[in-house]
Amino acid sequence: MSLLFLISFLFSLLLLNPSPSLSQQNHSFSSSDFPWLPTQNRILLSPNRDFAAGFMQIPSSSNHYTFSIWYYNISGNRTTVWSAKTNSTIDRTSSLVISNTSELRLINSAGGTLWPEPAAIGNPNSTLVLKDEGNLVYGTWQSFDYPTDTILPNQTLKAKNGTAMQSKNDKFIFQNSKILVFNSSEYWNIDNAFQKLDENGRVLQDNGATLVSSDFGEPNRLRRLTLDNDGNLRIYSFGSEAGEWEVVWQAVQEMCTVHGTCGPNAICMNDASNSDPTSCVCPPGFRKRANDNNSCEIKIPLRNPGNTKFLQLDYVNFSGSSDQSNLNVKNFSMCQSRCLANPNCLGFGFKYDGKGSCVLQIDRLLYGYWSPGTESAFFLRVDKSETDRSNFTGMTSLLETTCPVNIRLPLPPDESNTTTRNIVIICTLFAAELISGVLFFWAFLKKYIKYRDMARTFGLEFLPAGGPKRFTFAELKAATNDFSNLIGKGGFGDVYKGELTDHRVVAVKCLKNVTGGDAEFWAEVTIIARMHHLNLVRLWGFCAEKGQRILVYEYVPNGSLDKYLFPASRVPSLDKEVEMDPIGTDVPNPILDWNIRYRIALGVARAIAYLHEECLEWVLHCDIKPENILLGDDFCPKISDFGLAKLRKKEDMVSMSRIRGTRGYMAPEWVKMDPITPKADVYSFGMVLLELVSGVRNFEMQGSLMDSEDWYFPRWAFDKVFKEMKVEDILDRQIKHFYDSRLHFDLVDRMVKTAIWCLQDRPEARPSMGKVAKMLEGTVEITEPKEPKIFYLVDG
Ligand SMILES: *[C@@H]1O[C@H](CO)[C@@H](O)[C@H](O)[C@H]1NC(C)=O
Ligand SMILES: *[C@@H]1O[C@H](CO)[C@@H](O)[C@H](O)[C@H]1NC(C)=O
Ligand SMILES: *[C@@H]1O[C@H](CO)[C@@H](O)[C@H](O)[C@H]1NC(C)=O
Ligand SMILES: *[C@@H]1O[C@H](CO)[C@@H](O)[C@H](O)[C@H]1NC(C)=O
Ligand SMILES: *[C@@H]1O[C@H](CO)[C@@H](O)[C@H](O)[C@H]1NC(C)=O
Ligand SMILES: *[C@@H]1O[C@H](CO)[C@@H](O)[C@H](O)[C@H]1NC(C)=O
Ligand SMILES: *[C@@H]1O[C@H](CO)[C@@H](O)[C@H](O)[C@H]1NC(C)=O
Ligand SMILES: *[C@@H]1O[C@H](CO)[C@@H](O)[C@H](O)[C@H]1NC(C)=O
Ligand SMILES: *[C@@H]1O[C@H](CO)[C@@H](O)[C@H](O)[C@H]1NC(C)=O
Ligand SMILES: *[C@@H]1O[C@H](CO)[C@@H](O)[C@H](O)[C@H]1NC(C)=O
Ligand SMILES: *[C@@H]1O[C@H](CO)[C@@H](O)[C@H](O)[C@H]1NC(C)=O
Ligand SMILES: *[C@@H]1O[C@H](CO)[C@@H](O)[C@H](O)[C@H]1NC(C)=O
Repeated sequence: MSLLFLISFLFSLLLLNPSPSLSQQNHSFSSSDFPWLPTQNRILLSPNRDFAAGFMQIPSSSNHYTFSIWYYNISGNRTTVWSAKTNSTIDRTSSLVISNTSELRLINSAGGTLWPEPAAIGNPNSTLVLKDEGNLVYGTWQSFDYPTDTILPNQTLKAKNGTAMQSKNDKFIFQNSKILVFNSSEYWNIDNAFQKLDENGRVLQDNGATLVSSDFGEPNRLRRLTLDNDGNLRIYSFGSEAGEWEVVWQAVQEMCTVHGTCGPNAICMNDASNSDPTSCVCPPGFRKRANDNNSCEIKIPLRNPGNTKFLQLDYVNFSGSSDQSNLNVKNFSMCQSRCLANPNCLGFGFKYDGKGSCVLQIDRLLYGYWSPGTESAFFLRVDKSETDRSNFTGMTSLLETTCPVNIRLPLPPDESNTTTRNIVIICTLFAAELISGVLFFWAFLKKYIKYRDMARTFGLEFLPAGGPKRFTFAELKAATNDFSNLIGKGGFGDVYKGELTDHRVVAVKCLKNVTGGDAEFWAEVTIIARMHHLNLVRLWGFCAEKGQRILVYEYVPNGSLDKYLFPASRVPSLDKEVEMDPIGTDVPNPILDWNIRYRIALGVARAIAYLHEECLEWVLHCDIKPENILLGDDFCPKISDFGLAKLRKKEDMVSMSRIRGTRGYMAPEWVKMDPITPKADVYSFGMVLLELVSGVRNFEMQGSLMDSEDWYFPRWAFDKVFKEMKVEDILDRQIKHFYDSRLHFDLVDRMVKTAIWCLQDRPEARPSMGKVAKMLEGTVEITEPKEPKIFYLVDG
């Protein structure tokens, strides 16, 4: 009762006491304020002054306006979030009126209605207001029902047809809130349709699924979900400290997979060195179409289908779907003859996955792109007299996993004596490292032969354009002030901080003991540079000069995760591979709160899933641990050192294997005889997850908590969570008191349960990294896993 009273009291207070300052600040327009002319320079403000609505002049034209809503309190370029979709242009003679039947209308000088359709009908008392959320309201009409390219927090995305989000340039549509479409051709989809973005950066989806931005939970942020003119759907976040919009989630990672980026016959390539991330190049036998830099045309038309041949384009896929036919054939030559038999077949894609998937391109070549993520090659049909050679070559032989190791080890005898057992454990680990080293060496030799063959046909002149920027040694010397600012020493080499002439701050990594010639180095670096993900450290360029092998990365300011998780005194000495970390800073690092830990977990999971699933398994990381997780602004995690293992000199492979799969993060299959698969990364990630929650190294003994002999972190965590039901016992003691079970239980519970799934003894039992990311997001239900055992003692 008293509460009701209080509420009604407050309410009446509000009604009786309208703030005079507010009413002067044009927060609502009643019928007396109309007509509203574009030339009047009036704006309607939301009470919190976050948003404004009004006519906006189009910069390129003095007599052309839009009626829009934009952020009012952001300096710099205006970010519009909504515009009236008129059926004719708004000019100086147009006006916004309220008719004598209380309809809000935008009319031209002749009285014709430009907008809206259907009509916005109010009553004589209705006013036009702009709500704090950015919703323009008149009567029962509201702009939130008619989104343009942007969705604001709390705005419901209707899956209805006709109200779909559309990019400003009208090229791309977010159909039914779940499919991205260009010209009726789908290039991205999600299982559960989007419903709305909430204030914390989370997208609520159908079936209760959620998707979380990388700054999830960060307070006092403006956020929006926008379908950009490049066809990507992104969540942006604006923090007043940064003073600019930051991308905190995006649907498409490889921009070249967005349909319509390039025109017919062209092949889209990512370009890491350029401000424009994609470029359209022509396949051999084709040239740029006149007046259209994004499309290509064939040089010698295919007049006689019998007189044609095929050029192989490695890693190229044409993904126009309406003109493709999928065939399952026994082998390559069957696929080729099917294409030859069809006079309208312009080429075919063939996938080297052993399943013989063969796709003929009939009539048109659309949406071509080059990416190391495609396991296939495209065979382009050209006239026999064509003399162009294919310049999309050479990389097929790199399609192996980075850690193709089988370690054969006798299992230790089943000892009951604990001292002996401990000795056995230590020896086993030691032996495993040695043996894996030897095997690495052997595997490498085999690969080296392939490299050598490849290098012969792979002159620098045939390398694809648009790779990472090639720096001269002098440029990097100048950028790093003669390599004076050492910020880290790692297994791969020393790291210096520097600044390029365009003022980008970079981390310059001078690699030690790198194998191979320029061409191979170039090829590897090109592939690394093409891995684009919010949560991967970006490679901007390299230098291969005078025997130097230098990589130029974006600078990630906050150092690596271990510094934050494990206070310095507790960092064990055996694992000193410290990278990209400011040396000699004595300032203690802040303690990461639960939301940040959760975001780090999610970001890392997504990046690994990207490496595994979109870039192929050859980018197994093989060394996931807190040292390799760098923290950017707002503690956005970025994985470093992916793909580097391949650059090592063969003599180093023995010690490499030790650095690789650092003890404690190594999956059981490294020690057992099983092959290494992506599930080895999943295991390492599981350990990192547990460490994120517990704040202790997984192999650190828990002192009084446990007898050392049986200590196995995952099992202990399993017991706590699933048997004793005491999640609190494994929480990081440093922030335990900040743990609020209402706010954090869900996040922490998901992290721990996901971790235990990742830490299953048998690789098959572990989820894929994509599933892991979904488990963390809460998109899939997490069932109870089996108890992890001590892997190297218990036979699986
Ligand atoms: C509305 O506010 C803007 C800026 O605050 C001012 O320039 C404009 O004249 C105001 N219009 C009316 C009708 O009050
Ligand atoms: C406008 O933004 C600044 C920071 O960018 C903030 O300090 C100020 O309070 C905001 N004003 C309003 C009215 O929201
Ligand atoms: C505003 O836009 C122009 C051109 O689109 C761009 O050059 C400029 O950097 C932008 N300014 C800000 C502050 O974003
Ligand atoms: C409303 O305006 C229209 C013309 O704009 C006029 O024909 C009609 O009579 C008016 N109706 C009333 C109730 O004033
Ligand atoms: C715009 O559409 C409305 C409703 O469909 C129509 O009444 C109006 O005449 C159209 N205006 C122009 C300028 O085409
Ligand atoms: C308009 O407001 C007046 C006074 O508040 C009220 O008497 C009248 O019923 C309202 N008209 C409508 C259509 O709501
Ligand atoms: C979104 O809705 C919630 C609950 O309805 C409300 O507390 C919050 O203020 C709204 N957010 C915005 C930006 O208006
Ligand atoms: C929406 O449009 C698509 C194709 O454009 C159509 O297949 C679908 O049935 C439509 N859905 C509804 C609810 O109208
Ligand atoms: C859209 O597709 C149609 C046929 O499906 C084609 O004729 C047209 O050129 C395409 N438009 C663009 C912009 O690609
Ligand atoms: C194509 O590119 C050339 C040079 O890169 C440029 O001069 C020309 O304006 C471009 N043409 C079109 C239609 O974009
Ligand atoms: C090529 O693109 C199509 C359509 O996007 C896709 O279904 C197919 O899997 C791709 N092929 C490869 C080898 O990635
Ligand atoms: C291949 O060569 C053509 C010219 O023959 C050129 O336009 C294209 O950019 C080259 N492609 C690559 C990947 O370098």
